[in-house]
Amino acid sequence: MADIKSVKTKIAAQIEAATDLQTLDDIRVSALGKKGEVSLMMRELGKMSVEEKKVMGPALNGLKNDLNALVDAKKSDLENAALEAALSSETMDMSLPVLRHQGTLHPVPQVMEEMAVIFSDMGFSVAEGPDIEDDFHNFTALNFPPGHPARDMHDTFFMSAIEGEEEKKVLRTHTSPVQIRTMINQKPPIRIIAPGRTYRCDSDQTHTPMFHQVEGLVIDKDIHMGHLKGVLMDFISAFFETDVDVQFRPHHFPFTEPSAEMDVRYERDGAAIKIGQGDKWMEILGCGMVHPNVLRACGLDPDEYQGFAFGMGVDRLAMLKYGMPDLRDMFAADTRWLGHYGFDPLLQANLATGLS
Ligand code: PHE
Repeated sequence: MADIKSVKTKIAAQIEAATDLQTLDDIRVSALGKKGEVSLMMRELGKMSVEEKKVMGPALNGLKNDLNALVDAKKSDLENAALEAALSSETMDMSLPVLRHQGTLHPVPQVMEEMAVIFSDMGFSVAEGPDIEDDFHNFTALNFPPGHPARDMHDTFFMSAIEGEEEKKVLRTHTSPVQIRTMINQKPPIRIIAPGRTYRCDSDQTHTPMFHQVEGLVIDKDIHMGHLKGVLMDFISAFFETDVDVQFRPHHFPFTEPSAEMDVRYERDGAAIKIGQGDKWMEILGCGMVHPNVLRACGLDPDEYQGFAFGMGVDRLAMLKYGMPDLRDMFAADTRWLGHYGFDPLLQANLATGLS
């Protein structure tokens, strides 16, 4: 018993005196390791009488536990001290410029950001919806009649049927379902844009199965087609950072009435396309006044509320603004392409210093 006490005092003093983690660990091994002093004492238990064991067993166990606790406490003291020392000796200047950064921002998020900046300046906020939609939000509430060809396998990616659910989900074919979600969840006045991914079963030089749209929706008590035209004309000139001549051409969408497509004037300059002037017209977006049936499907009274909506292809606008020849390159994940067409991720688009 006296031995146990003196061993404890001796080793405790060693632990207390340790000034680094390595020394502390050496002490631990020489006391509590397989061939350590305490372990050897415990081995003696085997030679003892039952009476002796009853006393010495718990005493030795206690010694072991006490020493372990002392080692742990000292270890965390030393670790804290080391951290404190590192924190006070190392400094980092967060205001220093980046020396070299790899990687660029893809043109799609760049252009979406540019659009968000322009529309937020006009008082729009950003709304979002899911990529996997149901028939109600993607079609029915948007006044697609039953059997409308756009519901066909031809354009729409249908998800495999989920057990217990009657209806197959779809990959949204446009961002217009976000109109429905917004009108159901939010009281007018509404002024939102909804950027996001869209999917159609289509692939060639100007179509990819996944592409990007920005939807717009404005609902209030006195909205008319003049507002629609003004917003879109202002937008397109701000986006291309030059005066752009546009025309509105009658069109049909189930969810707007009247409906139109907006074209921008352009000309070819060798291989490049110059937007703004020229003698050719290029279609750039679909738009119109929200159909009364759509308002009703969202619980709004068309005699009280009207509004307009528009939808445009982000990838197309990016190609036109930044001169990329093939849409498919956008999604090929080629780092040389990204190095060439990508944007500095540290420079955010804003209206004060320029969009791009
Ligand atoms: N959803 C239409 C499309 O994908 C675009 C559109 C949106 C047209 C809103 C009118 C109003 O082609």
